[in-house]
Formats: sequence, structure tokens, C-alpha cells
Amino acid sequence: MVRIAPSLLSADFRNIQREIKLVEKCKVDLLHLDVMDGHFVPNITFGPLMVDAVNRCTKLPLDVHLMIENPDSYAEQFVTAGADYLTVSFEACKHLHRTINLIRSFKIKAGCALNPATPFSAVKPVLEDLDLLLLMTVNPGFGGQKFISSVLTKIEEAKEFIDRQGLKTEIQVDGGINPHTAKSVKKAGVDILVAGAAVFKSRSYCATINALRRA
Ligand code: DX5
Ligand code: ZN
Repeated sequence: MVRIAPSLLSADFRNIQREIKLVEKCKVDLLHLDVMDGHFVPNITFGPLMVDAVNRCTKLPLDVHLMIENPDSYAEQFVTAGADYLTVSFEACKHLHRTINLIRSFKIKAGCALNPATPFSAVKPVLEDLDLLLLMTVNPGFGGQKFISSVLTKIEEAKEFIDRQGLKTEIQVDGGINPHTAKSVKKAGVDILVAGAAVFKSRSYCATINALRRA
């Protein structure tokens, strides 16, 4: 069964606790938090303080997606703030193997995200150390963008490789996921769907979440 991680980026920040309670009622699996630094991506969101505040609102696992330069310098702060998954951006890591092992040393799940233009082969050498492989289906930086369908073949390639090697790495997709695009990424083999605008801009969060699950 595919797992669902609503991205709080599209939630109403005036009342984040209420938004969290609303998606909790829909039995989601994780909460996805997008950290942007204005350097790696052309947008700024929030840092560990917000992750800590969200952590106090929920018992759901926190899936923290770092779109920042120098993730090694900030990893521990996000762990202390309550991250259960910490995903770094491949393109921001000079020494990816070192960064992944740093995250693992905190006994939380380590993830790595690939931009749409980065091939799957880039992470093959470190895949056995990765709990999560995030295949971005938009260029990171903003919610509400259009799904890039050419990433589908990369998902299939990753799924096939992970299964063939007997690895436990979970595949996550993020960007432009809605009940329509969910169908194709599920067919390609993803384990976790991140969805921001599709959930938080919809009239019924639970109806959308159920549609994503059933797609
Ligand atoms: C984009 C972020 C996403 C974003 C997805 O850079 O990583 O998590 O919230 O938003 P939607 O689902 O609206 O494309
Ligand atoms: Zn994200």
C-alpha cells in the first residue's frame, strides 16, 4: 500500500496546528516539511524552529526535505527538532556518502533527493546506505508546479534496480502529485507520495488523500 505524506508547504500557515489535525484525521503516514534556503532553490521557507513546532503538534513521523546548501552543518539541528526522515538534495552535497553517514549516525532515516535532470545512476554507489530515494517530479522550490512526466522512466529504473539488488530503499516522489499523476507513479513503483497543493488546496483533504491512496 502506498504511503501518503502531505506537504505542509501548501497548508495555511496562519493555523498550522489545525491543518495538521485535519490531515491526521485522514490517516496519513508522514508529514512532509520543505526547508528552503534561498540559495539551493530560489525560495525561502523555514528552519528547525518550525520543525520543532510541528513536532509538538503531532505524533506523525516528520519527513524533512532539505533544499539547502551545506546540509551537514544543519543536520543535527533538524534531528533535535524532531526529524524522523532527513532528506538532502544530491546536487547540494559535495561528499554525499559522508552526509548520508552523518544522518545515519543520529539513528534516523537518511534520504537523498534527485532533481529531474539528475540521472538515477548518480546515487547507485550509495543506494545501500539510503533509506529513502526521493525522485523529484518538479524542479524544487515551489508548490503547485506541473508534474514532469519524463521522470517516470527514472522511477521504473530505480524500482527495478532496488528490487534486483534486494535493497530496502523506499522510493518517494514529490511535485505535482494529484490523484491523476499518482496513478502513473504508483504503476512505476513508488512507495511514498508527497502532495502539497493537491491536498491543501482541495475542499476535502480526506477525499483527496483517499483518492491518492486508491489511484
Ligand atoms: C517542492 C517541494 C514539494 C512541494 C510539492 O520543491 O519539495 O514538497 O510542497 O508541492 P505540490 O504537491 O504542490 O507540487
Ligand atoms: Zn518536498
